[in-house]
Amino acid sequence: ILTFPDERLGAVASPVEVIDDELRETVREMFDLMYESKGIGLAAPQVGISKRFVVMDLEAGDEEHQGENQLVLINPTIVRKEGSIVWEEGCLSLPGVLGKVKRAETVLISALDLEGREFELAGHELTAVALQHEIDHLDGVLYIDRMNPLQKKFLLKEYRKVEEEED
Ligand code: CO
Repeated sequence: ILTFPDERLGAVASPVEVIDDELRETVREMFDLMYESKGIGLAAPQVGISKRFVVMDLEAGDEEHQGENQLVLINPTIVRKEGSIVWEEGCLSLPGVLGKVKRAETVLISALDLEGREFELAGHELTAVALQHEIDHLDGVLYIDRMNPLQKKFLLKEYRKVEEEED
């Protein structure tokens, strides 16, 4: 998993044009990597693939229900946003830190599934936040880019400290 400040995380990904077995295999591998890394979502650009798809499992941390509600979003778009909510977010590309971000409280998204069928999904609170966070990755936007400059500065200072401790 690429970590900040890898510049590939800032690139705008291109649409998926073919949904085939190769993509389905990549999706399986991304779920494995996501569970291993204790995340609830992983976007293709985070693993160096500049394509518009993400995997999510909001119950990834719940051993009993992990895998029951896997979500794959291909070429997702946000159709509607409502309200606002402040949520503490983390990201596998910024390990060791968390930051508060203001997002829409409810979203309606449209995407393709692994069979190429279009579907819509409404999300509220955690689901809405996770959907917005993952879709942002496809546009090269990290949650820290949604924070105010001062908060972002503090968080990045903390992040560098965590990184140094790991070295
Ligand atoms: Co993320």
